[in-house]
Amino acid sequence: MKDAAPQTIHLKDYAPFPWIVDRVDLTFRLSPTTTRVLARVAYRPNPEAGDGPFFLHGEDLRLISAAIDGTPVAPRITPEGLTCDVPDRAFLWEAEVEIAPESNTALEGLYMSGGIYSTQCEAEGFRKITYYPDRPDVMAPFRVRIESAAPVLLSNGNQTGRGDGWAEWDDPWPKPAYLFALVAGDLVAVRDRFVTRAGREVDLAIWVRPGDEGKCDWALTSLKASMTWDEETYGREYDLDIFNIVAVDDFNAGAMENKGLNIFNSALVLASPETATDRDYERIEAVIAHEYFHNWTGNRVTCRDWFQLCLKEGLTVFRDQQFTSDMRSAPVKRIEDALMMRSRQFREDGGPLAHPVRPEEFVEINNFYTTTVYDKGAEVVSMLKRLIGDNAWRAGCDLYFERHDGQAVTIEDWLRAFADVTGRDLSQFQRWYSQAGTPRLSVTEAWDGETLRLTFVQVTPPTPGQPDKGPQVIPLTMGLLHPDGSELMPSTTIEVTEATQTVDFDGAALCAKQGKPVARPVPSLLRDFSAPVILDRPLTTEDRAFLLAHDTDPFNRWEAGRGLAREVLMARATGTDFDDAAYLDGLRAVLSDPALDPAFKALVLALPSEDDLAQSLFDAGTTPDPAAIHDAAEIQRRRTAEALGDLLAETHAANATPGRYCPDADQAGRRGLANATLSLLSRTDDGARAAAQFAEADNMTQSLAALSALLNIGRGAEELSTFEARWSGDRLVMDKWFALQVMCAAPDKAADVARGLTEHPAFTWKTPNRFRAVIGSLAGNAAGFHHASGAAYTLFADWVLKLDPINPQTAARMSTAFETWRRYDPARQERIRDTIRRIRDTPGLSRDTGEMVERMLG
Ligand code: PHE
Ligand code: ZN
Repeated sequence: MKDAAPQTIHLKDYAPFPWIVDRVDLTFRLSPTTTRVLARVAYRPNPEAGDGPFFLHGEDLRLISAAIDGTPVAPRITPEGLTCDVPDRAFLWEAEVEIAPESNTALEGLYMSGGIYSTQCEAEGFRKITYYPDRPDVMAPFRVRIESAAPVLLSNGNQTGRGDGWAEWDDPWPKPAYLFALVAGDLVAVRDRFVTRAGREVDLAIWVRPGDEGKCDWALTSLKASMTWDEETYGREYDLDIFNIVAVDDFNAGAMENKGLNIFNSALVLASPETATDRDYERIEAVIAHEYFHNWTGNRVTCRDWFQLCLKEGLTVFRDQQFTSDMRSAPVKRIEDALMMRSRQFREDGGPLAHPVRPEEFVEINNFYTTTVYDKGAEVVSMLKRLIGDNAWRAGCDLYFERHDGQAVTIEDWLRAFADVTGRDLSQFQRWYSQAGTPRLSVTEAWDGETLRLTFVQVTPPTPGQPDKGPQVIPLTMGLLHPDGSELMPSTTIEVTEATQTVDFDGAALCAKQGKPVARPVPSLLRDFSAPVILDRPLTTEDRAFLLAHDTDPFNRWEAGRGLAREVLMARATGTDFDDAAYLDGLRAVLSDPALDPAFKALVLALPSEDDLAQSLFDAGTTPDPAAIHDAAEIQRRRTAEALGDLLAETHAANATPGRYCPDADQAGRRGLANATLSLLSRTDDGARAAAQFAEADNMTQSLAALSALLNIGRGAEELSTFEARWSGDRLVMDKWFALQVMCAAPDKAADVARGLTEHPAFTWKTPNRFRAVIGSLAGNAAGFHHASGAAYTLFADWVLKLDPINPQTAARMSTAFETWRRYDPARQERIRDTIRRIRDTPGLSRDTGEMVERMLG
């Protein structure tokens, strides 16, 4: 409740818990309405902490009894927890509480999903299970007994006993409460086995609802690949006899790394060629890996407090990115990650919700599981590796694990391992963790016939609470090209550390060394997206076309093509005449080049998103008009289809059916390219090819792409019904059916389409996946969401408010769709601001959503 002013928690106030927990014993007597939880917890005074009250977190619990060393006690209970007088020595705390998993719609703590008991304790959900110091720096071994008639009873660690109606589990590795998990219900396992490098035999199991057994192969394959990869790449092995993964349908996030018992959103486990797309397969592989990698980066070494969240998340995202690069195409993965950074993280960093990778204050920690903490956090790790080199990176990681195994640590501890290994002073580098906002790096060039001088100026704009910033350490990977298209030197990384800095290259000598006539070199800057910065650099259309044709760095080659597309679209969206010949020539050359990876070609063919274009226009000092941007993109797609028709048709024909379905990078890349061409071809063939592909497709990738191509040109009504009739029994496929219609709706129809779908009998809005499919997709349809009528703003806010009392975490996440409001014209700004205020002024608004709307209003 927001009535009592919500409390802000500060990093600077950190103090250790005054007691140490030596052991936790939990007994669960499961019942949907009256589950009993008995906790037996051994405490002793923490010699390294100061005095403080014995305070245990606890929310929505009914205390039945409490005792210390067997003697009943009467604790003082508040809505946040309890305090109790305790002896000044080691003691045993016992408490029994009652909870009601069935009425837990927030999906935090112990809840039920489709008849299955499941838990979600990160970040602060354990306090809804029992009274406990629910903070990550309190680590303890847990033993769990589950009493229930359910056929499957799971918890963390190894199973130590099983009988009729009960099971016992023992997790020997000390862990914070947020890694606790329990699952019980009617589930079936798909099993496999893994032998670690040290010879430990591990039973692997993926637990799903009966009927879903046939959709677990990919998750298992991905799990084994992850286990092998972490051994080979980081020398990290698994440390229990069992590794369980459970798929549940109701889940606020993607997945959770509970020790030995990962719990997943079923969308990130279940896959078959008929029901999952290539994208789904790639995400499943990456998220399975991510959660598995947490076993070392997060679980064995955990966070001292929630301000250090990026310590585990940024590092683990970085590790899963490396894994995907190794399993698939490294250049394609890098481009995809850069796209995500720019579209989501730069947007957050440039708006009212901007915060440092390591925030210094929060009201609700759930609001800080953000793209800044995760994705910018991963970029910071990547920069560190780039700066110190691969060997020092591995040595620093080894030292970090060796020093801190079993501990709850900070970013300072993390960086100290690398400072110690390299002897480098990382204090300026640490600004990446403390300063919010995206640095803008402007570059100017001067050539005197001999020397090429690059002048760098870096500025990080003010963000909420941070008016002034110091210069950051920017690793800038670059090359120089001769005008004949050849490289003049190997790629090199320079460190930009000053507010203004110049770097000279002896261009004449470099040319001479290659036996070339002396000519002004063309720089290729920020190769491989070597730092999460906005590069401000005056490039002509000719420069971009040159780099698209010749750059040997795949990222910058793609970037040059993207620059051409952006030029064309920004001009069109602002009513400026522009010649798209260079853009079309570039596309032609890329599509016809047999040496290029199809997945790369598909990335070059894709236009920047409408939201990206709005941000680019705003950054360039122009107020974006969402309708004009949408029209510009539509016109360009038609023009491209007209200009490149035959080449697109050939490309489609050559790639659409790469053989018996396999979700690997090669086939996925080919299907991706075919589907990118299909979408363009539909603009000129009236959907004929798409309709044919839809009719013939034997896999979801091609079926969904065909349907989307049809919807995008205002057709596909019949196909939508066919699709619904075929898939009405499959929750995950139906999510796609809901989402696609909203995403592809014309701008003036989007709100109506979404409203219509909210009346569909299968719109089970309390399931986050379904809510996101309809309401979340409305925000993903940029021109529809920002339609001048304001209808989408109203519908969206109505649903956020309806969800808020049921599931504040997901409602708060959704509300961030409004974060870009200051980009737009006065009429839209006023509409959005009024909408955000309407949310804010709603009585009983959750702390989660309350914090978000307050920050957005600024
Ligand atoms: N820690 C989870 C991850 O792997 C994310 C998560 C956070 C899941 C909070 C649920 C709740 O990134
Ligand atoms: Zn994670």
